[in-house]
Amino acid sequence: MTHLVLSSTTATAADGDALVIGLHSVDGVATAVDAAHADLAAALGAAGATGNLGETTVIPAPTGYAVASVAGAGLGAPADLTAERVRKAAGSASRYLAGRTHVVSTLGAIDLGAAAEGHLLGAYVFTAYKEPSKAPVEQVTLLVADADDATAASALRHAVVAGEAVALARDLINTAPNDLPPAVFADRASAAAAEAGLAVEVLDEKDLAAGGYGGILGVGGGSSRPPRLVRISYAPAGATKSVALIGKGITFDSGGLSIKPAAGMENMTSDMSGAAAVVATVIAAAALKLDIAVTATVPLAENLVSGTSYRPGDVLRHFGGKTVHVLNTDAEGRLVLADAIVRAAQDDPDYLIETSTLTGAAVVALGNRTMGVMGTESFRDRVAEIARETGDGGWAMPMPEELREGLDSSLADIANVSNDRAGGMLVAAHYLAEFVPEGLPWVHLDVAGPAYNTKKAFGYTGVGGTGVPVRTILATLEELAAQ
Ligand code: BES
Ligand code: MN
Ligand code: ZN
Repeated sequence: MTHLVLSSTTATAADGDALVIGLHSVDGVATAVDAAHADLAAALGAAGATGNLGETTVIPAPTGYAVASVAGAGLGAPADLTAERVRKAAGSASRYLAGRTHVVSTLGAIDLGAAAEGHLLGAYVFTAYKEPSKAPVEQVTLLVADADDATAASALRHAVVAGEAVALARDLINTAPNDLPPAVFADRASAAAAEAGLAVEVLDEKDLAAGGYGGILGVGGGSSRPPRLVRISYAPAGATKSVALIGKGITFDSGGLSIKPAAGMENMTSDMSGAAAVVATVIAAAALKLDIAVTATVPLAENLVSGTSYRPGDVLRHFGGKTVHVLNTDAEGRLVLADAIVRAAQDDPDYLIETSTLTGAAVVALGNRTMGVMGTESFRDRVAEIARETGDGGWAMPMPEELREGLDSSLADIANVSNDRAGGMLVAAHYLAEFVPEGLPWVHLDVAGPAYNTKKAFGYTGVGGTGVPVRTILATLEELAAQ
């Protein structure tokens, strides 16, 4: 990962390949955020900079500067400035400056944490299968008034932990599905957790059978690469609150016998984004030494087509005993999640946070940059707000009571899909709710849209795995820990 450094040298004395300065757009004219950079803004404006959000413009540095180039990072209108805009501008600058080794950034003077996070996330590249055409920036030096200030150091540390967590989630998501069957995901998650000093438990297919995890086994039955259930626990001494995290880990979703169309099926490599997010987040919680216990429960299975696949019409028995009539094998996420939710609830947590690429309906409703947030009302509303603050993007969604009866089954306790397509994202939330203990504050984050970027890079988000909702869950844990 890109190395972040604090320095209190001046913009003129700082040495590096490029100096990043913030530009506002004022009546269409690029205007320096820091009045001391007015000369640079004028030169950047002459080179075409407007100060619009996300725009990066590079010119040779004028005499008097130690750096080779100056990059103007557009932040938009001064009145619209937010932490997220600083993250986006820093992220765009990091992406645009790839190929340069050492970047010096003044964006930290606006918001150090946001600038650091944006620079880090924007510099991320996935290199397992090919070398990037331009190497990511190796070091970003953030200019601050006092490089020894404790608040600055802690903002930087937070950005590094969040950046590492997002990078871990992105790496797992970007790994091709042939290289990431359930057992390999489990090994990689275990290794990362062990390195962080966390306790890990992995149930293999025999353990799952012995324990009665019928949902996970049913979904995973069509693959020669058997399912797993991974549990990672961070339990700091003296913590008085605990949170259960649960993430959907379908390492590839073909739909099973209710097979998906060919177009876009390759994107179902990302159907373990929820699992990747909660593994990364429990590790980040430990790195930040949060005063709250966190356990991630991750059901892993590959939803494939074969002679051993589960069928439409099958009845499965979930962990805990509830039976489900499978009417569509492509509604597999809720089946593995129900087992995991019941297992996680046995620990008697104070909060439950579940995340999954659960429904195409979430993408239809909210697009590709907003997660759907469902669950108990006040916790749901707060988490949706946090999702917007972090830049992950989220909106609270209702669970209209009348949608529940679509899941009624005459053969089993519940059906896995409704007889009515209306409100598919909300129906899926009803399915999960059936397995959450009464009275437990919980949220379901449907990240089917924002977890995986199949379009162009933007801000600090590249193509592929995005790491959504790592920062939302981490910020939620921090808030609960501080309460
Ligand atoms: N993994 C998919 C949901 C998905 C769709 C994620 C698009 C990301 C992008 C999920 O397992 C699925 O197939 N859901 C079905 C549910 C339906 C059968 C009720 C869907 O959305 O079509
Ligand atoms: Mn599916
Ligand atoms: Zn799926």
